[in-house]
Amino acid sequence: MPSTNYSPKAEALEKLKKELEEDISLPLREANLVFGEGNINTDVLFIGEAPGYQEDLEKRPFVGRSGQLLNKLIEGIKWKREDVYITNIVKRRPPNNRDPLPEEISAYEKYLMKQIEILNPKIIAPLGRFSMNFFLPTAKISRDQGKIFWWNDKLILPLYHPAAALRQVQVMDDLKKSFVKIPVIVKKYDEFLKARVEKIIPHEPNVEKKAAKQMKLF
Ligand code: URA
Repeated sequence: MPSTNYSPKAEALEKLKKELEEDISLPLREANLVFGEGNINTDVLFIGEAPGYQEDLEKRPFVGRSGQLLNKLIEGIKWKREDVYITNIVKRRPPNNRDPLPEEISAYEKYLMKQIEILNPKIIAPLGRFSMNFFLPTAKISRDQGKIFWWNDKLILPLYHPAAALRQVQVMDDLKKSFVKIPVIVKKYDEFLKARVEKIIPHEPNVEKKAAKQMKLF
């Protein structure tokens, strides 16, 4: 009997996870796979850089100290962690929590792109500069965190990495200020998209009337 919980999205994500598990060409295979978790119908996708020690142990993203801060920030905007989806650009822990290498980011890129395509969020919030530069190669975290950028049909809101906020008071302050923009951007997404489309295809009533007449619409 087919499951009543059937969801094409969930199924596509399961398939992608299996592909990741079976891809022997990927680097860092000695570590556990941390695929990502959360609401698959989310408007907001958070993307960190790579799992750390605790994430590798639990096979879940952002469950260590940075994760606790992320949870608090999410609760601060009156959401729950389960409302959003959380993942990383690199899906396995680099040894000793070192920064992910460019070749590791490239190797996992196609899986992240597919994951984004399946989840199809309105907003992507990269956490930290590695994730931000994946989408916005020339952006600078201190200059561009808290600003919004278009990336295809999605809005990108770069945020400081929670680990950086735990080290520096000023960064924590900026992260909190930028985080509260998330619900506002979600609400305004359709408006932003419409304005953007109208910028590309300017609204010209006369042209539209003529075209409609030619098509015998009125
Ligand atoms: N830092 C990250 O970038 N990702 C995690 O999952 C945990 C810490």
